[in-house]
Amino acid sequence: MLRAPAMGSFPQIRPRRLRRTEGLRRLVREHTLAPERLVYPMFCVPGSGVREPIQSMPGIFRQSPDLCAELAHEASSLGLGGVLLFGVPTQKDATGSSGRDPEGLVPQAIRAIRKAAPELPVVTDVCLCDYTDHGHCGVLTPEGEVRNDATLPLLVEQALTHARAGADVVAPSDMMDGRVGAIRRGLDEAGFSHVAILSYAVKYASAFYGPFREAAHNAPARGDRRGYQMDPANAREALREVELDLDEGADMVMVKPAIAYLDVVRQLRDRLDVPVFAYNVSGEYSMVRAAAQAGFLDGQRAMMESLTSIQRAGADGIVTYFALEAAKALVGS
Ligand code: PBG
Repeated sequence: MLRAPAMGSFPQIRPRRLRRTEGLRRLVREHTLAPERLVYPMFCVPGSGVREPIQSMPGIFRQSPDLCAELAHEASSLGLGGVLLFGVPTQKDATGSSGRDPEGLVPQAIRAIRKAAPELPVVTDVCLCDYTDHGHCGVLTPEGEVRNDATLPLLVEQALTHARAGADVVAPSDMMDGRVGAIRRGLDEAGFSHVAILSYAVKYASAFYGPFREAAHNAPARGDRRGYQMDPANAREALREVELDLDEGADMVMVKPAIAYLDVVRQLRDRLDVPVFAYNVSGEYSMVRAAAQAGFLDGQRAMMESLTSIQRAGADGIVTYFALEAAKALVGS
């Protein structure tokens, strides 16, 4: 009598069968990127018709509000999830007052984008560092320490300035304790209970922000950000930061950077019911670009693999400088 061949192992079982053609691979693919999962960051500078290349971020520009609006229109046509705005003003001072100017760069850009792409969600970065002459994310003591509690009302005012101009979501990235609660109260009291908060709850003190410092001219003049951003060695602390921000009223949370912290993204996704975002930061972008320019790897494939890995780790949304390019590739494919 013939014995039934043992099933459940080679040679009957061959995982390669499902990898044989693109059609089969596509059929069994677990994660598919979509443009609506991607948010495109933009750097706004004064003027009109201004477009300045950022040397450390090939393909990314600082641009005036009118050109931000043009790009937002393109982003919207490609089906992107939204845009994230940063102001890069020429006027900077000790308290970052240009960030609270109702006629400032971000409010101007929001209004222009609202006209050019009415449906596109507009997220704004809320932080002092783009607007302070010392480059820190809060106001300083005479000794140069960042003052947590004194910074909070300034962040609230900046968030309100964005809300009044029409932002859908404000995204505080400063890492001051208590800022989510302060911003939520400030928005609610001023009649902006409909404006959502995406908290950069888990923001590490990372070397991967390097290129952004050139893009936004926000390198700290003295010291670094390790006194308020998280230690890269800590993952449990990420959960604590997130719990606090959710208690204070955050609607969504973000992990930043993304690729070096995918374990944290996964842990948050497994434990939370709110949307979890990941920020594929400037250094993560520029590494791929630079390696591709040098001919060391295929830039397009590395881009897609990076974004797919962030989604696979559990991110619901990805903030990425690749957003436009990735969306074009996805729409075209
Ligand atoms: C400002 C801010 C930074 C980034 C986003 N918001 C810089 C920093 O904290 O040093 C970094 C983004 C990037 O590197 O792409 N607080």
